[in-house]
Amino acid sequence: MSRIINVGLIGCGNISHAYFAGSKNSEIIKIVACADLDPARAQTRAAEHGIRACSVDELLHDPEVELVLNLTVPKAHAAVNLAALKAGKHAYSEKPFALNSREGRAVLALAQRKKLLVGCAPDTFLGGGQQTARNALDRGAIGQPIAALAFMMCRGHESWHPSPQFYYEKGGGPMFDMGPYYVTALVNLLGPVRRVGGSTQSAFSKRLITSQPFAGTKIPVETPTHITGTMDFVSGPTATIVTSFDTWPYPLPCIVVFGTEGTMEVPDPNSFGGPVRLRSKDGKTYDEIPHTHTTERGRGAGVADMAYSILRRRRAHRASGRLAQHVVEVMESFEKSSTTNRHVLLKSTCTRPAALPLGLSPTQLDA
Ligand SMILES: NC(=O)c1ccc[n+]([C@@H]2O[C@H](COP(=O)([O-])OP(=O)(O)OC[C@H]3O[C@@H](n4cnc5c(N)ncnc54)[C@H](O)[C@@H]3O)[C@@H](O)[C@H]2O)c1
Repeated sequence: MSRIINVGLIGCGNISHAYFAGSKNSEIIKIVACADLDPARAQTRAAEHGIRACSVDELLHDPEVELVLNLTVPKAHAAVNLAALKAGKHAYSEKPFALNSREGRAVLALAQRKKLLVGCAPDTFLGGGQQTARNALDRGAIGQPIAALAFMMCRGHESWHPSPQFYYEKGGGPMFDMGPYYVTALVNLLGPVRRVGGSTQSAFSKRLITSQPFAGTKIPVETPTHITGTMDFVSGPTATIVTSFDTWPYPLPCIVVFGTEGTMEVPDPNSFGGPVRLRSKDGKTYDEIPHTHTTERGRGAGVADMAYSILRRRRAHRASGRLAQHVVEVMESFEKSSTTNRHVLLKSTCTRPAALPLGLSPTQLDA
């Protein structure tokens, strides 16, 4: 592979470190410039990585930049993606793809008109943990999938996060924050969702911040903080998901898939590794199976996969805008179902991403 894709990174906050690290050894992408609303942040990051810092506008109109990596905050994802597409660049953003499916549809429509690609995190489903689970499922290790469970339950982030306010604002909550990992992992395993049911609540109308620097401040809760949902997959299985910022911890698994011939525990979808455990219908214990794919990938794998797709038009990228848009519609439908007292039939769909081939090195995503 001789040509590489030059990437301009917008949003030089916490997660940008992981993307800089992940792109270092890539054979297909290179971060060449960075920008942030806060120019000092962009300059710091640029100095750390020997690239140039510029304004957002300069980056969007930089002829060297082909792909914009959008690591801004969730409420800016759609607007920054639209600006990148308008400027003729491919766009890949952090999760969630948008704050609602209307916003996300506008991004997909513009990308289609401009014949550009859009992609979105999470890309953890390209890691060895999720791909090993996918491989086991595809080779029939648990027979036909029947059902799945997914849990992400905790007591919220106001005891440790320095500025936890956004978790409780509209567009926050445990589903839009962590749901993308869980719903994407389930779609990677079971395919697209047909309909959704949900019951949502907020156990507390206010949250007391105990972390510094806002300790003692009470913040209003504007979003559901305990969401129980059901998903009926087009392929037949049904899944139950619970995401919560209201509950004290209990040792629940992250994801379990039940099949006609056995049960599989799937690792934390917010990691690139983790153990996959199987119990066959005749077995008495859950046994860890060897990873079939490397666990040494990191954030940025989805951007690299999209770069292969740009350079080799013959295949679709896996962490795609369509997948992420479907995930947004699933997540927003839990609350819609709860408030309307009925199931929600989904309007969007997506293709189940192709499994990664066996035998790839951590820097490869194409055979
Ligand atoms: N921090 C994590 O561990 C983590 C993990 C996975 C995913 N994410 C996701 O990554 C995204 C960013 O999270 P973070 O923790 O890095 O946040 P952050 O607040 O540390 O950084 C976001 C940066 O984006 C900049 N920004 C905001 N709006 C902008 C705009 N319109 N134009 C240019 N710059 C803008 C901010 O100034 C800030 O520097 C979020 O969507 C989050 O869900 C974060």
